[in-house]
Amino acid sequence: MSGLKGKTALVTGGSRGMGAAIARRLAADGADVALTYVESADKARNVVGDIERAGRRGLAISADSADPTAVAAAVEKTVAAFGRLDILVNNAGIFIAKPLEALTLAEFDTMIAINVRAVFAATKAAAVHMGDGGRIISIGSNLAERAPSPGLSLYSLSKAALVGFTKGVARDLGALGITVNVVHPGSTDTDMNPADGEHADGQRALMAIPRFGEPRNIASLVAWLASEDARFVTGAGFVIDGGANA
Ligand SMILES: NC(=O)c1ccc[n+]([C@@H]2O[C@H](COP(=O)([O-])OP(=O)(O)OC[C@H]3O[C@@H](n4cnc5c(N)ncnc54)[C@H](OP(=O)(O)O)[C@@H]3O)[C@@H](O)[C@H]2O)c1
Repeated sequence: MSGLKGKTALVTGGSRGMGAAIARRLAADGADVALTYVESADKARNVVGDIERAGRRGLAISADSADPTAVAAAVEKTVAAFGRLDILVNNAGIFIAKPLEALTLAEFDTMIAINVRAVFAATKAAAVHMGDGGRIISIGSNLAERAPSPGLSLYSLSKAALVGFTKGVARDLGALGITVNVVHPGSTDTDMNPADGEHADGQRALMAIPRFGEPRNIASLVAWLASEDARFVTGAGFVIDGGANA
């Protein structure tokens, strides 16, 4: 496919899991792709290698989403390297699950900084570089809509915040031809939530299709939202969870 030929993208948290699958898929569709990482420098380099083997330009940027200045700098580095920015995928995120009484204010601050404030910082920095055809896609969670077991309050809060932000920014940027959407994955086999993990069977029991999603399933939906075909789709949320929330 070459539907994204001539486009450039930045994927936050692109060294592993869904972010890596999204980066590879956008490159396969024709885009030059930058990605951020924190811990996994080697894996980030591997993803860049795959992007280059697909015939596109790749760039790995060390940028902790907990630091909004680093996030904004990653946007500027992408524009400096590729000359433009068409697609931002706000993917980097963390998961903290604990009962209310065990959660601390420090954990609240960390969760909000990475899962919410970084999305605000990246979106604000990226939007000024985008024109007609720009795409902003955030990775939320099906837990933004439902909290099917105890311990999810803080994570659900952080992903629900992206719903309101997406709608608001879609209104701000719609007249410019920039679309803004949020994708809500359910149980997807990554380091964060392995399909053979302790709580995996309980998650499968909730699903209409009782198996974990693969990162490339999420990447397919992101690639469609990034494409010209999705130009009339904005301010929307897309649950992709094997029917867990059905
Ligand atoms: N897996 C699921 O079942 C599931 C379901 C719904 C939603 N989600 C959401 O999907 C997104 C991706 O999740 P995943 O399952 O792919 O997670 P993952 O396997 O834990 O991978 C997380 C990625 O984000 C990066 N990252 C972590 N903290 C970061 C930070 N502070 N700054 C920048 N990058 C950071 C990691 O990079 P380094 O290793 O380099 O630090 C890694 O590339 C997250 O927003 C998550 O909340 C996941």
